[in-house]
Amino acid sequence: MSETKVQTRPDTSDGPRHVAIIMDGNGRWAQMRGRPRLFGHHAGAKRIREIVEACPDHGVKYLTIFAFSTENWKRTQTEVAGLMALFRRYIQREARDLFQRGVRVRFIGDRIKLDEKLVTMMDDLELMTAGNDRVHLTIALNYGGRDEVTRAAKRLAYEIEMGRLSHKDVDAETLASFLDTHFLPDPDLVIRTSGEARISNFLLWQSAYAEYEFIDTLWPDFTRAEFARVLSLYGTRERRFGAVKA
Ligand code: IPE
Ligand code: IPE
Ligand code: MG
Repeated sequence: MSETKVQTRPDTSDGPRHVAIIMDGNGRWAQMRGRPRLFGHHAGAKRIREIVEACPDHGVKYLTIFAFSTENWKRTQTEVAGLMALFRRYIQREARDLFQRGVRVRFIGDRIKLDEKLVTMMDDLELMTAGNDRVHLTIALNYGGRDEVTRAAKRLAYEIEMGRLSHKDVDAETLASFLDTHFLPDPDLVIRTSGEARISNFLLWQSAYAEYEFIDTLWPDFTRAEFARVLSLYGTRERRFGAVKA
């Protein structure tokens, strides 16, 4: 964590390097307009491009977005199927543009429950953008913090069982290396839209010292200007990481 803060990043050294967003409020946005929930999800998906594009202007190198949680399967079959179709459509439509804009895309979450076609598209997009470094966009899809830690613990136990690792070697760093996010620095700032002040199982381990901003705007209304405003609030926070400031 402290290591990620000392990276050389002129002009924007006070801003967050990794921002994570819980994109919430699509359903309410649609309901307010008398439209089906999926209409809101489509409007929400359209907002992503503008926010990704704004990242380099603010020195944000990593953007992680919560698209579908391990609990979202509890929604109606219509909504779940509609969301899955939307993810496929999003990748199909945006892949080229993301690649050309220098965005490296990766996915976190358990892929086992996702349909094969979608998983292939996710793999292809990761591969296609693997050489990019302008912005690192991570999409959390069928992601849950508890599920992620559980899967990590299971794989760690397996390594021990196979004799490739000793229980004596298990520390926080080892555990983190088994998490889906092993390639990411911890988030500096977590933003949740739509007025709900909870984390809903998002990046539980990784957000131990993140700053939080809960804002009332519904995700489909979240603009580049509002993103800039929220980032500026972060600059006013004093992060102590448990220490007392000298
Ligand atoms: C967030 O919007 C998107 C997903 C969870 C997929 P919601 O669908 O949760 O919208 P609200 O909270 O019902 O308004
Ligand atoms: C969190 O939002 C998940 C995503 C934004 C993908 P939810 O709308 O599912 O969370 P709860 O149910 O309000 O806690
Ligand atoms: Mg919600």
